[in-house]
Amino acid sequence: MNVFKTLTKSFLLALLTGAVATAFFTASAGAHDKDKSRWNQKYENEVYIFGKEPIPFLKNNVDILPKGRALDLAMGEGRNGVYLATQGFEVVGIDISEQGLQKAHRLAAANGTTIETRVADLESIQLEKGAYDVVLCAYYMQRDLFPQMKDALKSGGMVVVETYNTDYLKYQPSFRRQWALEENELLEIFKDYKIILYRVYDDGEEAYSSIIAQKP
Ligand SMILES: C[S@@+](CC[C@H](N)C(=O)[O-])C[C@H]1O[C@@H](n2cnc3c(N)ncnc32)[C@H](O)[C@@H]1O
Repeated sequence: MNVFKTLTKSFLLALLTGAVATAFFTASAGAHDKDKSRWNQKYENEVYIFGKEPIPFLKNNVDILPKGRALDLAMGEGRNGVYLATQGFEVVGIDISEQGLQKAHRLAAANGTTIETRVADLESIQLEKGAYDVVLCAYYMQRDLFPQMKDALKSGGMVVVETYNTDYLKYQPSFRRQWALEENELLEIFKDYKIILYRVYDDGEEAYSSIIAQKP
């Protein structure tokens, strides 16, 4: 929303000065490029900052998921998507960072598998509708992406979401509240789905919520 407000403001100002097109594209590219270079920098060395193993919630429950096409949103270095590929899923990963996705391809090769990837900004993407058996999103919070995630699933497909919740602010007070899930928020978002698993975790250092839900 902040990006949208910034763009709207830039657009109106530019309209007044008669420089609409230039200002719009400068503002748009600015927001995208900042995120992209920040994440590319984080990923630029050989260390896998989020590790090479999938999140336990995915690994422990992979057998529940319908086999087929899986979409890993904000795939990063690929720990989750590559795991799904080793389990027989046909995986597509999207991320803003090409450095992250290059590491994901290397991780896939090291595990004797392959993935498809796409460098794109999820804030301005149009996901293919009714195309996936599984849509996964781990540790990336963009609330206005949830409707698209739902649309991207086939009927009977399942969504897997895990990210920090507001309890995490006890341990990381500088973490932005807008990036944390509110209590029962995932249950509310997927209230029209069949809830297969829902878990709230807090080990005194980290706190996050996880869900697997099935599209009717
Ligand atoms: C905390 S990491 C999580 C990575 C991965 N899901 C995992 O669990 O290992 C967040 C990811 O979101 C990606 N990201 C941030 N903003 C993005 C955007 N606007 N569009 C696409 N990806 C984005 C970053 O490049 C980064 O890989």
